[in-house]
Amino acid sequence: MEYRDSKGKLDTARKILKVNHAGEFGAINIYRSQLLVARLFMRDLVPLLESFLTDEKRHLQVFWDEICSRKGVKCKSFWLCGLGGYFMGFVSALLGRKGIMACTWAVESVVVDHLRTQLAYLERKSDRAAYDTVAYILEDEKNHRDIGSRHGGADNFWYHPLRFSISLFTEAVIRLGMR
Ligand SMILES: [Fe+2]
Ligand SMILES: [Fe+2]
Repeated sequence: MEYRDSKGKLDTARKILKVNHAGEFGAINIYRSQLLVARLFMRDLVPLLESFLTDEKRHLQVFWDEICSRKGVKCKSFWLCGLGGYFMGFVSALLGRKGIMACTWAVESVVVDHLRTQLAYLERKSDRAAYDTVAYILEDEKNHRDIGSRHGGADNFWYHPLRFSISLFTEAVIRLGMR
């Protein structure tokens, strides 16, 4: 997706920040519901999922601080992201550890692509503060994605429909938020 100058009241930088903020809430809920299932059936995954959750909580705060500093807004799809995230996390965890990793890989791959495109836009606009905020989280998201891939989440044949649905939903809420 291309990031262009906004024609509405809210400029593109503030849209990017609100969408990313809502996305972090979605990610928090993915890892929360996965943790719920992992604590019962996959205890060895708990420390990793907890570390992901800690990262996402920090990201949420970083975006919120930047939103407040420029009188931004909370995204209308904030709760949709939360609900969708919780649902995707839960369903993927019921499919076992490969399901968890496929979910992580799918979500974080879409996110990383968007973050890179956002960075290119913010650089063109010389919006240093927004650029730094997005750049700050990029390494974490790449790391989440790569861990998902290393645990077999990227290419297991049977999990393709799961990855496809999750990518589609993630892409859709980002586009919806940027409208
Ligand atoms: Fe994040
Ligand atoms: Fe993440």
